[in-house]
Amino acid sequence: MHFAIIGGTGLSQLEGLESVRHQVVSTPFGEPSGPLSIGRMSGCDVVFLPRHGYNHRIAPHEINYRANIWALREMGITRILAVSSVGGITPAMQPGTLCVPNQIIDYTWGRPSTFFEGDLESVTHIDFSYPFAQSLRAAFLRSAAALSIPLIDGGTYGATQGPRLETAAEILKFERDGCDVVGMTGMPEAVLARESDIAYASLNVVANRAAGKNGGGEVDFSKMNHTIAHAMNNVRAIFTQILQTRDCAICADH
Ligand code: HPA
Repeated sequence: MHFAIIGGTGLSQLEGLESVRHQVVSTPFGEPSGPLSIGRMSGCDVVFLPRHGYNHRIAPHEINYRANIWALREMGITRILAVSSVGGITPAMQPGTLCVPNQIIDYTWGRPSTFFEGDLESVTHIDFSYPFAQSLRAAFLRSAAALSIPLIDGGTYGATQGPRLETAAEILKFERDGCDVVGMTGMPEAVLARESDIAYASLNVVANRAAGKNGGGEVDFSKMNHTIAHAMNNVRAIFTQILQTRDCAICADH
């Protein structure tokens, strides 16, 4: 088993995953967000894990990111494609837009965010200059292009603590920092994957305009679910395309 999808808000189940079995994996860090769903999709072995749990009940700051990534590594996973919904900060990031970010700024706090602590033989640092795997980013972009689905190449993801949304001033600060989108789950997921030698890329679905970016109004929750549900059709199509074309050796048994 080499390839996993981590689903976010709007992707708690992976339609099209066949012959699914569920595997409970215990880790030194506790329980993952749920049993891993292991099955076949477009002729490839795929492991699926919804980071908020199958019933979408685990808040972003309470997700056991270490257990999730540890469990996937235990299964032999070497590549993770993640999906997350985000708020749009820069003008291009309108609701419904899809983006494959290439950078991260981490504003989260208090989350266990490394495997390299405690009883170590030596202090370990990892390179994280470019937090996403270019090969997997390219697979997303190629597949979207083949399907004529608009997908923005690059952007900086600001990872916030949540679960509350941001203030307008916080979003202005993030914008000055260079963030294009804001979300609550990108970190420490990405860094834990890197520490585990797992290639990782994320597909962001813009669910709403971020705080203060909505023409002076509050964040508009009313359309969020519809926007995400609609965009997820494109997300699913992109995954199917990646698997069908065996892009990027994602499906290692072909
Ligand atoms: N802020 C943070 N996380 C989010 C948002 C937002 O506006 N929308 C979806 N996830």
